[in-house]
Amino acid sequence: MPNENSYEVALQKSNAIREGLTKTPEKFTMLTGDRPTGRLHLGHYFGTLKGRVELQNMGAKTNVLIADYQVITDRDTTEHIQDNVYNMVMDYLACGIDPDKTMIYAHSAVPAANQLMLPFLSLVSEAELARNPTVKAEMEASGHELTGLLLTYPVHQACDILFCKGNVVPVGRDQLPHIELTRTIARRFNNRYGKVFPEVDALLSETPLLPGLDGRKMSKSYGNAINISMTAEETAKRIKKSQTDSERMITFDPENRPGVSGLLSTAAICTGRSEVEIAEEIGMGGSGQLKKYVTEAVNKYFAPIRERRQRYENDLDYVKDVLHEGNRRANEIAEQTLAEVQDAMGMVY
Ligand code: TRP
Repeated sequence: MPNENSYEVALQKSNAIREGLTKTPEKFTMLTGDRPTGRLHLGHYFGTLKGRVELQNMGAKTNVLIADYQVITDRDTTEHIQDNVYNMVMDYLACGIDPDKTMIYAHSAVPAANQLMLPFLSLVSEAELARNPTVKAEMEASGHELTGLLLTYPVHQACDILFCKGNVVPVGRDQLPHIELTRTIARRFNNRYGKVFPEVDALLSETPLLPGLDGRKMSKSYGNAINISMTAEETAKRIKKSQTDSERMITFDPENRPGVSGLLSTAAICTGRSEVEIAEEIGMGGSGQLKKYVTEAVNKYFAPIRERRQRYENDLDYVKDVLHEGNRRANEIAEQTLAEVQDAMGMVY
């Protein structure tokens, strides 16, 4: 029997969900989210945003959370947080998330969901929290000490998922330990107090991770990302400044030519062509021609998205209304779930 928590089993389950979604989308409640530390970039778009919109349009129940409390897991400041949150809503709307179909909310605005944290914390041991590999990696990457919130944020993530009885969570592989913990918490709660929560599974992305322009992991801190919100000119500038190499002939070789290959992958995902095909077409055209091709591909793909985004940038009142309405709906659902939890626990006075 393969381990239930192995990558292979997670992938099998993810594929089964994908099939189930085409037949009975209404049985699925998706919840996923992002932390508002900056603007969303092409990695977010192709890795998850696009898939969320597809799920929304297939008829699954879809919920998108802005994980603002997660920002203070590994840093001492909430600088720019309000601006980041509003801009994240703009990115979502521009990419096709429809607030009439998808609930968009910030988890700090939903007290009843946060209150689930107390019973949930009682269902996990310190040792279970301490061995979470993603938490460890995040602590090391941040250079910050391990805060109590970083140690326990996977439990908070279980609150995010379970308050709306989410059963499908589109995430990257790094988030699988958190999905496991959510499943464990739901089962333990149900066993101890009676069934309130569903079985939760991850929906793993089918597209391979898009690297940054230099071939490394795409990240704001590496300066190798193109943001959805950039203008065509800013995009051109960022691509122009990216590092390639001195070999004129363009070839796709991620291992030895990370810069050239990162550019090729970006062009490939925006045009639907393969990296090798594009490389062969450019051939001796060199990195100048490659950069021109990538710039055009990105700007063409994102032109309608950016045009929509511009309209939201000029209508902050609407953006705030969307968030307020999402928060209101989230509170309604959270209060209902908390009532069920307290009822199951006999804490009704
Ligand atoms: N931890 C996720 C990240 O770092 C963000 C997140 C918070 C999330 N709560 C969630 C993702 C619930 C999926 C479901 O990207």
